[in-house]
Amino acid sequence: MTGDYSIETPDEAMRMEGVRVFLRSFREESESVEEWLQGFVRMLVDAGLAHMLVAVGAGGGAGSGRDRRVVGCGALIGFVRTAWIAFMGVEPDLQRRGIGGAILDELMRLARGRGYATVRLDATDLGKDLYAGRGFVAEHPAGMYEIPAHCGPGPEGGPPVRLDEELPEWCLALDREAAGDDRSAPLGAVLADGGKVLVVEGEGFGILHGRKVGPVIAKSVDAAVAIVRRGGSLGANRVYVTRRSDLDERFVAGLKEMPPRSGLGCCTRMAWGKPLKRNPGLEFAAYSAATG
Ligand SMILES: CC(C)(COP(=O)(O)OP(=O)(O)OC[C@H]1O[C@@H](n2cnc3c(N)ncnc32)[C@H](O)[C@@H]1OP(=O)(O)O)[C@@H](O)C(=O)NCCC(=O)NCCS
Repeated sequence: MTGDYSIETPDEAMRMEGVRVFLRSFREESESVEEWLQGFVRMLVDAGLAHMLVAVGAGGGAGSGRDRRVVGCGALIGFVRTAWIAFMGVEPDLQRRGIGGAILDELMRLARGRGYATVRLDATDLGKDLYAGRGFVAEHPAGMYEIPAHCGPGPEGGPPVRLDEELPEWCLALDREAAGDDRSAPLGAVLADGGKVLVVEGEGFGILHGRKVGPVIAKSVDAAVAIVRRGGSLGANRVYVTRRSDLDERFVAGLKEMPPRSGLGCCTRMAWGKPLKRNPGLEFAAYSAATG
């Protein structure tokens, strides 16, 4: 218990309320985003890839239908050696009372219990200090960029991009090198949710999911640019760029950085635990489910 709140593994109805709380914490009120994110979270949980926790307070009536109210949520998404913390959010009027910290402590207990040596996350400015206080170290910024409308199929002379339903083995191997872990299960879940693969043969891949492109994993900036442009020509309008210090600026040259909403400055990638052996230079963009 934290004050009047307990941290619990939710049933389906409370989990869906948790998603609503998460979206409210980001001042996101769109019903279509809510529906999409609820479906996505349900799929991750059903596939055993995510474990969600909610903070529940007495009274209020809204939420679980059992006169108890969901006021915060967070989830642990497991890969093989590493885990991610995602979907952290607390009702706006109940923030800074220790609820988010209590959820985080419980998620970390879960991560340690499951043997994950490394836990990573993307923190907003509001969350950054909370994570730093629990031993997370900042790696680099990341930010959402707009892909301009009517993006063509690629610059003249750019490599051709093929659309595929599945990730070929060489792409999974490249992803393992980039991430330092095997992400085939969560990437497979994104494809099962309607994601499509954009491939530059032998050079790299991206995933088009909803109106976003990410991750983009590539050996060259030309391939990465071609993947994003092709995603744009197929209707994507956003890409979540990992702004490492050595990022080739040509990757973002045709994109427009999106201003953070409601002061929710986004984002700082942070890591806890054992440093990962990986090749970050291959990662141009990351996957982001946070706002649909
Ligand atoms: C980020 C977020 C999940 C944190 O949840 P929270 O319940 O506000 O977190 P806590 O109250 O446990 O801790 C937040 C801060 O309040 C402080 N705090 C905790 N209890 C407190 C109390 N009783 N009185 C005053 N301050 C308190 C904590 O020390 C912490 O300070 P710090 O950030 O300087 O370390 C929440 O602010 C939120 O939903 N933000 C909007 C969405 C978002 O940014 N999500 C995070 C994605 S990474």
